[in-house]
Amino acid sequence: ARLVVLVSGSGSNLQALLDAAADPAYGAQVVAVGADRDGIAGLDRAEAAGVPTFVERVGDHETREDWDRALTAHVAKHQPDLVISAGFLKLVGEHFLTAFGDRYLNTHNTLLPAFPGIHGPRDALAYGVKLTGATLFFVDAGMDTGPIVAQVAVPVLDDDDVDALTERIKEAERRQLVEQVGRLVREGWTITGRKVTVP
Ligand code: GRF
Repeated sequence: ARLVVLVSGSGSNLQALLDAAADPAYGAQVVAVGADRDGIAGLDRAEAAGVPTFVERVGDHETREDWDRALTAHVAKHQPDLVISAGFLKLVGEHFLTAFGDRYLNTHNTLLPAFPGIHGPRDALAYGVKLTGATLFFVDAGMDTGPIVAQVAVPVLDDDDVDALTERIKEAERRQLVEQVGRLVREGWTITGRKVTVP
């Protein structure tokens, strides 16, 4: 199966996928990595692995819709079976979702629907929850609202700060991402309403 991965930052989730895909038994290859900005470690990781990269900046387009169209075209060129947002910090638009809506995965660093948005671990810590985690889901038009594929729980420890909690979540998150993407590409999936079924 062909994976296109979208990143905006350090790309540790991308790295986990690149490492897993090095084994042919995994059943998927990362065929391209896209970003919304230059100069990020995620792009360096792709280049180090010999994977083609592309950058589509919102600021280079007249409207957000133009950007969405350009991003869609760029991703489509690589004919992905799955598109994975791995720390991609932009909400895609209508064109992208029309093209990839049933095969666009995102990983979020809390147990949704609690604490959506870019400060999940900080918000979870501030709220005082004792358990949080990571959620893998298919993206819909909302922010962190789509049908859930899998979740993994991670404890919040008494002496956690945001960095310690964020790192503990990311370890579980990477394992879940690799396992679940492998399962989806090997077994397939259907989405019915909010329910994701893997046969
Ligand atoms: C992940 O924890 C993701 O949930 C959050 O940003 C992080 C991305 O990390 N939105 P990385 O770029 O894969 O290292």
